[in-house]
Amino acid sequence: MRITSSERVEKRRTEISFAASGNSVTFICLSKMKTYNIVVLAGDGIGPEVMREAVKVLRAVEKKFSLTLNLTEAPVGWAGIDAAGKALPDDTLALCKKSDSILFGSVGLPDRDPTIPKEERPERAALLRIRKEFGLFANLRPVQLPKVMAYACPLRPERQGDGLDILVVRELTGGMYFGQPKKTEEVSPGVQRAIDTMVYTTPEIERIAHVAFKAAQLRRKKVTSIDKANVLENGVLWREVVTAVSKEYPDVTVEHMFVDNGAMQLMLKPTQFDVMLCENMFGDILSDEAAALAGSLGMLPSASLGATTGGQTFGFYEPAGGTAPDIAGKNLANPIAQILSCALMMRYSFGLNDAADAIEKAVGKAIADGNRTGDIYNPADSNAKKVGTSEMGDAVAAAI
Ligand code: IPM
Ligand code: MG
Repeated sequence: MRITSSERVEKRRTEISFAASGNSVTFICLSKMKTYNIVVLAGDGIGPEVMREAVKVLRAVEKKFSLTLNLTEAPVGWAGIDAAGKALPDDTLALCKKSDSILFGSVGLPDRDPTIPKEERPERAALLRIRKEFGLFANLRPVQLPKVMAYACPLRPERQGDGLDILVVRELTGGMYFGQPKKTEEVSPGVQRAIDTMVYTTPEIERIAHVAFKAAQLRRKKVTSIDKANVLENGVLWREVVTAVSKEYPDVTVEHMFVDNGAMQLMLKPTQFDVMLCENMFGDILSDEAAALAGSLGMLPSASLGATTGGQTFGFYEPAGGTAPDIAGKNLANPIAQILSCALMMRYSFGLNDAADAIEKAVGKAIADGNRTGDIYNPADSNAKKVGTSEMGDAVAAAI
């Protein structure tokens, strides 16, 4: 699904790699490999059924573009615990290490999670562990609301402009998620104290800022950097470092915004944003808020990228939504976020821009043809037909 102009699409095609230092992300990998080894980790809840549709689409892409996609499935999350006693089984991790990229579904089951210690739960033991293990510091969350889906946006039409197109660039391996000390201790009988530590170093801020500015250069050339510089030491350093990095990108406009104002501006005037650059926690929160503007979490893919080495960018691709256990196994889930995550993989890890464009266009066609899963269904739209997970996957695969 694209709402970008054809000019912007063309620009993406001609992207060249970013400076290939250990700390930068290359958006387009120029390597010529034709066989791609992908680990498929479907996980829990709706994970397996949306993944099935993504695999359908990947098979269609493979055929159309004469590629070999070696897809190897492995258990993760509760599926990992049930199969091998751990949310991220050793064999699964070993497979990931040998692969070119990871296609991830979702993990965690609210009913079962409380039955095991928090460190062993899927979110911490699998998702956060993979982020850290593979140094996936750059999380890209494109939020797009095309005109045809305007009804799904909770904002009034006059606030939506010509549709929304925001890229949230979230730092993913630092800040409060990983800072030490992180613990809960008893300070006096019956009184507990929980400690999380927000910590960032200059290089950590620099490398994610470069990702944001480079992404902006390929879009509308504006970065809004989010911080809390009026209160937090981290915010002051964040603003200083982003300002310094911005000097290397004179063609990109930089704006700094406090996070509380950023949350408000997303509701009041989302069209002002092109790239939103956020530290880990703020990015977690604002990316969900931005996602709500697109009508459904079921539409939003994400890419988590590590540093580029040897012309290749290891990436982890997952839908923004969760396991949605309430609708799991009922053929109700929207597979589009999972499918669009495959497009991001083609683009960012493999440099296969044509394949990425083909997937996005196929999703656009399935929507234009009126296919709607329950989360994006509008009964007032006479062109819309309510379809299930597998029908939506079929429609996209057929349009490849
Ligand atoms: C996300 C999720 C995760 C996060 C959870 C599941 C640990 O909310 O990817 O945004 O907080 O990063
Ligand atoms: Mg989140």
